[in-house]
Amino acid sequence: MAKLWGGRFQKSAEAWVDEFGASIGFDQQLVMEDIEGSVAHVTMLGAQEILPAEDVAKILEGLAQLKEKADAGELEFSVANEDIHLNLEKMLIDLIGPVGGKLHTGRSRNDQVATDMHLFLKKRVPEVIGLIENFQKTILEQAEQHVETIAPGYTHLQRAQPISFAHHLMVYFWQLQRDKERFSESMKRIDILPLGAGAMAGTTFPIDRLKSAELLGFADVYANSMDAVSDRDFIVEFLSNSALLMTHLSRFAEEIIIWSTDEFKFIELDDAFSTGSSIMPQKKNPDMAELIRGKAGRAFGNLIGLLTVLKGTPLTYNKDMQEDKEGMFDTMETVLGSLKIFEGMVRTMTVNTQRLHGAVHSDFSNATELADYLATKGMPFREAHEVTGKLVFTCIQQGIYLLDLPLEEMKKESALIEADIYEVLAPEAAVRRRNSLGGTGFEQVKIQLAKAKELL
Ligand code: ARG
Repeated sequence: MAKLWGGRFQKSAEAWVDEFGASIGFDQQLVMEDIEGSVAHVTMLGAQEILPAEDVAKILEGLAQLKEKADAGELEFSVANEDIHLNLEKMLIDLIGPVGGKLHTGRSRNDQVATDMHLFLKKRVPEVIGLIENFQKTILEQAEQHVETIAPGYTHLQRAQPISFAHHLMVYFWQLQRDKERFSESMKRIDILPLGAGAMAGTTFPIDRLKSAELLGFADVYANSMDAVSDRDFIVEFLSNSALLMTHLSRFAEEIIIWSTDEFKFIELDDAFSTGSSIMPQKKNPDMAELIRGKAGRAFGNLIGLLTVLKGTPLTYNKDMQEDKEGMFDTMETVLGSLKIFEGMVRTMTVNTQRLHGAVHSDFSNATELADYLATKGMPFREAHEVTGKLVFTCIQQGIYLLDLPLEEMKKESALIEADIYEVLAPEAAVRRRNSLGGTGFEQVKIQLAKAKELL
């Protein structure tokens, strides 16, 4: 089949060579964006009297028909036409005749493809932001149920200090808040139109780029035509923001997985978000959480992939850039899917408050309370640490916890210890008294929740 750019060629490439160069297999996902961009472009060509009104009308009518067919899934793409741009242009010409060939006046596939990518992210990044916010709401709702639920807090995955379980859950709220801000800030750079840059140097036609921007709803146009066709930073930024978001989801997933084990049993996932084993009848596996943890890998891969594609490319457009698409599509699907699933998983999970309560009552996570108690009474903290450590060791030898240790035993290490120590050692008191700004004290957690609510 003759190529739309075939004029200077004496022979055609073989089908398998075309196949290697074609992007239609994946860039057909940009069909709507490509039509939208063409509609704006030809409308602008008409307004500038670069094309006569009757030609513009015919082209617009043809594009409308192509859009209808695309909506109905009736377009048949061919590898021989390489990519979405040439496929649509060929279909347009087949549909309305040679006048369809006027659509590409003052335009190149280089500014066209960059425009499509901007349109794609301009439409979908707000979807990502919406899903993040939805997930934040669910986390906040769970947290509100568990302000008074005492849980062990960890460092090194070793019991550290008792906390409000809401305080723990809210960490993910704040991580997502930063993700949301990053995606929102990136919109500023997505919202710039490359159309009108031509192949790279601009065009001799009296086009009106600002008119195109207005028609497509862009805030601005690229100031440099060469930058316009070679910039893929906005995609790198999307992939980078997504990689960090997936890191957050993966960390949360890891905790969900640990908490679901028989050893922890801090939560139980709803059956609807769990799977069984084909051989072990007792199994209930946190597959969805594991899958999200695993999918972080492809998000990282897509980011490194594009950075690597770009790093050696001279200005301006190079065919290497065709490699920008699959990773972007894949990451978009990954992020949207992971956010939806995770929200449902957290909304429907049951928190085992009894088990959390039991955990902090059978550990040494209140040891800091004793050290702080002695320090408050004037003992240098370093010494208080030593005294407490010795008492912990005594308990370990006897197979008991600090609250079980008789006062006389404690007094052997320090006469400063009085009977009121038992109130201080209660895990509830340990949490309540951590009332420093942003701490886990119940009052502080309530302030935090109110602040979070305001953000939504
Ligand atoms: N399919 C190409 C891509 O995705 C479109 C741009 C082609 N431009 C060119 N000069 N070959 O990058």
